[in-house]
This record gives sequence, structure tokens and C-alpha cells, in this order.
Amino acid sequence: MISNKVKKAVIPAAGLGTRFFPATKTIPKEMLPIVDKPIILYVIEEALNAGIEDIVLIQGRGKTAIEDFFDISYELENKLIKDGKEELLKNLNHIRNNINIISVRQKEALGLGHAIRCAKTIIGNDPFAVLLGDEITISNNKNENVTDFLCDKYLTTSASSVWVLPVKPDQTEKYGIVDLGSESFSQLDQGAQIKGVIEKPKKDQAPSLWALPGRYVFEAKIFDYIDEIKPGYNGELQLSDAMHRLSQKQTMNAYSFNARRFDAGDKLGYLIANIEVALDREDLKVDLLDYLKNRIK
Ligand code: UTP
Repeated sequence: MISNKVKKAVIPAAGLGTRFFPATKTIPKEMLPIVDKPIILYVIEEALNAGIEDIVLIQGRGKTAIEDFFDISYELENKLIKDGKEELLKNLNHIRNNINIISVRQKEALGLGHAIRCAKTIIGNDPFAVLLGDEITISNNKNENVTDFLCDKYLTTSASSVWVLPVKPDQTEKYGIVDLGSESFSQLDQGAQIKGVIEKPKKDQAPSLWALPGRYVFEAKIFDYIDEIKPGYNGELQLSDAMHRLSQKQTMNAYSFNARRFDAGDKLGYLIANIEVALDREDLKVDLLDYLKNRIK
């Protein structure tokens, strides 16, 4: 009997990161720091705080820096311990001790749908979360996060559950956009059944102004639909196309959730994420605000 508790997650991190070239020539974009932690660490912390036990990390060529990050660096770590700075290691050790990270290679960056399909044999028939490896979220309520929220929704509904955010008409071309038919959100966390999904539509073709920002919980059936799709937008296997098929045959619900979301794979999004995270930190907030106030005088 398959449990509804979501314990596995897939984090795709095998994209080429062309928007960050040349930084991404040798450094995976998921390893770029937001203040003092790599982007991927924020994503993994979100999964851990949602009760995820196994993470399937999808990696590409030249991305070994991500795998290496979770290994023990004896020289550096011994030095921190010797200098009485164990505190700096606490968070990393907590992750190492509480989450199992399984690396899978995506041999070619053939799209998000393809990246997720690479996790199929490890996920098996279990429900699973997907967290895009270059997006970070900051929940307005410190006790919950969006992945946790979606896992809870899956637990109670047994239906694929995804996060949606409102976008302006000129932004639809940047996202997968959901068709909610005549349903609308009466209450923030009630959700609405998805009738279809279109990848990056122009504003006059967008079925709504609700976009898919990169946090999902799927039933394993999604793999069947990924197997059926052909290369779509940009010649890639698009997760949105598989989600569209899923929505035609199964129930998949869209939920709104109160969190800030930053696309750290985009230059402006990355800069804003750094400022926002720093402004949330007691050790940086006052000095950074002072600097910004003086800068825009
Ligand atoms: P993006 O579309 O933002 O990543 O995918 P990208 O292709 O690296 O972006 P560009 O080149 O700057 O436009 C969202 C997430 O999905 C992963 C990426 O690593 C990123 O974390 N991804 C994307 C894969 O793992 N494999 C793919 O084939 C595509």
C-alpha cells in the first residue's frame, strides 16, 4: 500500500545556466551564493523542513561541485573545529545527518520534463515533491514552507498539488501558466482544479494569470505522461506538457501560498534574493539598509 506521506523529492539542477554565463562556465548556478550559502542549500533546507527524507539531485556534466559540497572537507572542517567555530558546521551536519542525497546524471540538458524522468527508477510509485534547484522561497510564516504546505495537501487529497503565483500579463511568457476554467481562488489556501497547462504563452494566449513558479508535489503517474510527450517549447521535454496531460486524466490542484519567491537563476532575481535574504539577517540588516538609503539619496 502506497503511503500518502511525501518523503521523496527531486531537485533538478542540471540546466546549463546560460543566463549566468560566464559565471556558469565552471560553477553550477545552483552553487552561486545567496549571502553566504549556495542557492541549492536553501532549496535542500526547504525540503528537509518539509519532512523529506530522500532527495534525488539531478546533475549534469561539470556539476560535481554540488555533490562535493555535501562531502566532508576534512582540512577546512578540522580548522573550524580547532578555532572553536563548530557553530558554522552545525547546519551542514544537520543536513548530512537527516537527509539522504542521491545523485543522478542527466546526460544532456533536454528540458525539465526529461530531468525529472531521470529520477523515475528511484522514485518508483511513491508521490514526490519537485523543487527547482535555482529558486528560493521565503515563507511569511517562519513555521511552514511551501513544500511542506503542498505535501500536506497531497496527504489529505491524494491529488497532485502545485503552487501558483499571480503574474502580470507581460510576464506569462516566462512561466508555465495554468488553466483554471471558471474556478477562482476564493480563499488563499483552498486551491482550484487545474484544467490545463501551457508553457510560456504570449499574453493573448494565456488561459489565466496564474503561473507555476517551481514547487510541486506529484503522484508517480506524472512519469507516464512525461513518457508520452514530445519535445515542445524550445525543443525540450517540458514538464508543463506532461502536467497538461495529467490534468486531463487526473485531479491536480493549484494552491496559492503566502511566500516570497526568487528566481536566483536570473540576474535580477539573484541580486534581489541576496538583498532580501541579507535584510532578513540580524548581522547584516542595519548596515545594508544604511548603505541602500545613502545610495538612493
Ligand atoms: P532553467 O530553465 O531555469 O535552467 O531550469 P537553465 O536551462 O539552466 O536556464 P538558462 O540556461 O539560464 O536559461 C530550472 C531548473 O531546472 C534545471 C535547472 O538546473 C534549474 O535548476 N534543469 C533545467 C535541469 O535539471 N535540466 C534541464 O534539462 C533543464
